[in-house]
Parts: sequence; C-alpha cells; structure tokens
Amino acid sequence: MAKAIRFHKTGGPEVLELETVEVGEPGPGQARVRHAFVAVNFIDIYFRSGRYPHPLPAGLGSDAVGMVEAVGEGVTDIRPGQRVGYLLGPQGAYSDVRLMPADVLIPLPDGVSDRTASTLMMKGLTAQYLFRQVRPLQGGETILYHAAAGGVGLVACQWARAIGVTMIGTVSTEAKAEVARAHGCAHTIVTGGMTPDELTREIPRQVRELTGGKGVPVVYDSVGKDTLMASLDSLQVRGTLVSNGTTSGPVVVDTTLLAVKGSIWLTRPAMVHYATPRSHMLAMADELFAHVRAGRITGEPKQEFALADAARAHRALESRQTTGATVLVP
Ligand SMILES: NC(=O)c1ccc[n+]([C@@H]2O[C@H](COP(=O)([O-])OP(=O)(O)OC[C@H]3O[C@@H](n4cnc5c(N)ncnc54)[C@H](OP(=O)(O)O)[C@@H]3O)[C@@H](O)[C@H]2O)c1
Repeated sequence: MAKAIRFHKTGGPEVLELETVEVGEPGPGQARVRHAFVAVNFIDIYFRSGRYPHPLPAGLGSDAVGMVEAVGEGVTDIRPGQRVGYLLGPQGAYSDVRLMPADVLIPLPDGVSDRTASTLMMKGLTAQYLFRQVRPLQGGETILYHAAAGGVGLVACQWARAIGVTMIGTVSTEAKAEVARAHGCAHTIVTGGMTPDELTREIPRQVRELTGGKGVPVVYDSVGKDTLMASLDSLQVRGTLVSNGTTSGPVVVDTTLLAVKGSIWLTRPAMVHYATPRSHMLAMADELFAHVRAGRITGEPKQEFALADAARAHRALESRQTTGATVLVP
C-alpha cells in the first residue's frame, strides 16, 4: 500500500487529501519508484484549482526523484536499485511509491544528490529549454526574466550567469531580490505592491534605464496576465516574448498589439514538445547535470513539507511566500 495525495473536486488547497492507495507490480514498460523527494510546481496549482481540466478523482504532481524498486516486462534501460528523477508522465507524484512509465525516467548521475536533483528535474529542464531551445541565448545578451527568485527562477539566474547572459529579474520583495542576485541575477526590479498599471509603467522604465534606452531582445514571462504589457514595452523591435506561464492569470493577446509594439515574436512553449523523444530529454538532462557537477548550478530545497502537508505547501507557493524550490518529503 502507498500514501498519496489525491483530490476528488477542484478548488483551494483544502481539496488535497492524504489517502492510502494500492500499488501493484509494474506492468509491461513500467517501473515502480519509491520517492525520496517530491517537487511542488506552480502547474500543480493549475490542476488542483481546475484551471487545467483533468478527470477526477486524481493524484497530483509530475516531478519527483527516488529509487527504482522493480521494473516490468520489456524495460531494458532502467534497472532496480537505480536512482532516477522525472518531470513528465501521468499526475500522481505526490506519493511515497508509485508506478511510472519507464521511458520518462531519467537516471541520476553520481555527484548529483537526490536533494539537489529534486529541485532541478522540472525547474532545471525548464531553464534548459527556455534558454537553449525556445529562444537560444548566445551569451552577451541582456534579458528580462519575471519571478527571478522562484523555483524555475533561481535555476535560470544561475544558468544565465553560467553562459554570460545579463539577467534583469523581477521579484516582489527586497529579500527575494537579494536571493536572486546571490544566484546570478545581475539586476533586480522590485515589484511588490504594484498594481498591473504600475507594473506596466515601472518595469519598462527600469529596463530602458538599465539598457541605455534599447530594451531587451527577449523576455521570459511566466507571470502572464499582470505583466503582459510590461513585457511587450520592455522589448526591442522584433524582440521575442516567451510566455511560459500564467501565474497571475491567462494571457489573451490581440495580434495587432504585437505589430504595434514592434513586430514582436510571441511563443507559448510547453515542455512536452521540447523534451521528446526520450533521447532528447536525456541530452537535456546531461547538459543540466554537467553544469551541476561543475558547480555552476546548485540546488537545495528552500521549503520542505511532509507529504501530508501538501496543502500547506500550496498555500505558501500561491501566496508568494516561497523562494526557489519547494519539496514534499514522503
Ligand atoms: N511552460 C513550461 O514548460 C513551464 C515549466 C515550468 C514552469 N512553468 C511556469 O513557470 C512559472 C514558475 O513556476 P514555479 O513552479 O517555479 O513557481 P515559482 O516561480 O516558484 O512561484 C511563482 C512566483 O511567481 C510570482 N508571482 C507573480 N504574480 C503572482 C501571483 N499573482 N500569484 C502568485 N505568484 C505570483 C511570485 O514571485 P514574486 O513574489 O517574486 O513576484 C511567485 O513566487 C509558473 O507560471 C509555471 O506554470 C512553465
């Protein structure tokens, strides 16, 4: 039997319940993984609240690290006793042990602990695909990155520093600004307490000031609704807006606006389209882990909760009390 967080209706954090569930032997193509750490990501809140529709009742979470206990028929490249992590596959990571499709499991290399890996599977591979695939950075650019002290944000700060990119990061408090700068964010814009109109005025003003009036060639915007106009107004002509999240609400764009703001390129990327096939996902992980092993990227959970306290973890993440990665410990 396993412990798992499940929900029977969508809503606030209170819908999350700790239940006992049956976990059998792995079937063909599956592996049974016992979790050491389960990562909490903002996307989990979209599923729990119903913003991303999902059949109910359901488990939650898609990001964890642990040890393979057993594998099913036909699984050849993953073996019992191996340390693995994952970020794709069915919901249900908020659990102590579960069955997983073996083809989404990523072996963890020596020199990268379970604790560190738990902060990097979704968050580190997101930084990889944003900076190396969606809008590849060469080094030397100045970029605007929203929520720089968040879970993905702190990896992005370190990745930018590692490749010689100057990051201007938005954060809501001075304390978060300090954390972002300590991880490699060159400049911070503190936005706490600003209305969307104030964000629209103040962020581009500071970006122009920091770039000698030029603006930036690319903005990575995971905040969405509240920062859309600020992002567009911070870009150079023919700049790229990577809309990679909707933390503050969905983004609705009249494409005429993209012309008016300077023939802006807009993309809304999803991990699954950049981390497949499996060989490609493993190459992305190799690149991430090479940075970790060289000490250029580090990861340590900033908030730890017991699995049973998943609702508390969600409250902290939603109310902007967290920095960096939040994990559940089964
Ligand atoms: N497209 C993809 O493949 C992909 C993959 C991973 C993550 N994401 C997206 O990237 C974003 C970051 O994910 P994460 O898990 O690392 O979360 P996170 O950044 O740790 O948490 C969200 C942060 O967003 C900021 N924020 C701004 N407005 C907010 C609001 N109205 N409510 C709550 N927070 C607000 C807060 O930072 P401040 O207090 O500093 O403003 C907050 O700490 C999410 O939007 C997520 O969906 C996308």
